Amino acid sequence: MPDLLTDTFGRRHTYLRIALTERCNLRCRYCMPEEGVPLRPRDEILTFEEILHLARLFVEAGVEKIRLTGGEPLVRKGVEELVEGLGALPGLKTLALTTNGLLLSKKLPRLRAAGVNLLNISLDTLRPDRFAHITRRDGFDVVLRAIDAAEAAGYDPVKINCVVMRGFNDDEPADFAAMTERRPLEVRFIEYMPFDGNGWNDGRFMPYREMIERIEARFPKLERLADGPNDTSKTYRVPGFRGRIGFITSMSEDFCASCNRLRLTADGHLKVCLFGRAEVSLRDALRAGASDEALGEIIRAAVLRKKAAHAGMHELAQSKNRPMILIGG
Ligand code: 5AD
Ligand code: SF4
Repeated sequence: MPDLLTDTFGRRHTYLRIALTERCNLRCRYCMPEEGVPLRPRDEILTFEEILHLARLFVEAGVEKIRLTGGEPLVRKGVEELVEGLGALPGLKTLALTTNGLLLSKKLPRLRAAGVNLLNISLDTLRPDRFAHITRRDGFDVVLRAIDAAEAAGYDPVKINCVVMRGFNDDEPADFAAMTERRPLEVRFIEYMPFDGNGWNDGRFMPYREMIERIEARFPKLERLADGPNDTSKTYRVPGFRGRIGFITSMSEDFCASCNRLRLTADGHLKVCLFGRAEVSLRDALRAGASDEALGEIIRAAVLRKKAAHAGMHELAQSKNRPMILIGG
């Protein structure tokens, strides 16, 4: 098979993020506008069969890691069945899931058995009242229990995604770091990124260096750990702690040079960059009866159009893109 996944900058794209749905059972401020987003009709969303078909194609072309995102992937009915299909793809090494945790505890045993071997659970605050404010919904205790369940099931680390926003939760990074003392948790502090209708502005943005300063005010001298070649996070440890913390610095220091990610939206569009508008519909090609070879050519052409790096933060804040809920992280 020709190489479909290497771009003009020599980046090999071995990591595919698949959004399973545009729906979510939370309304996080940084992800969605208050009024929600118009959802596409069901027949525009990829079926399980189509997702499996495309996933198999990508894995045959060299993808080694798939992450399921959304919206909230676990609100998609029958998700366990799909995960069983994906888990059985020969050549796939990592099957990861990003979830808000609300539906996780119940589904976890079957997901684990099906081969989900990496879990990221979103949690932006350790204060129940703030959880309700940031997510515009209830569920704080349910998420905490989901994190416990993931730990009990043996995930090590259990990753926690925490988007830090000035004026919302910027006083909490040290509290999150404290959670890693005895638990196999990796808390990943994420810089707040601008997307359509998500309330981003300069005043709410906090660069990771400032997060580190705040954590070091309580836990001096964080220890820097080695990162893997395509890691998007800079990893640290409070000396002596069991778990780790990390910083995802998409805005202050991008990681475009080592980007190995592609994204498939719930409606079947391939996006080569989270921050780029460029998309191509694999769904339409698939439904028009394209052969695997023809689909491969479409994928290859999209990958070859991928740019070296995304625009700067302020430029992004001005530009058109899907809101995060419709991209899938
Ligand atoms: N900035 C940073 N991260 C975001 N996410 C969603 N919207 C944003 C944003 N504006 C990420 C969070 C969340 C996951 C589902 O998507 O990490 O946990
Ligand atoms: Fe990949 Fe674009 Fe994100 Fe860089 S900014 S990591 S190129 S998606």
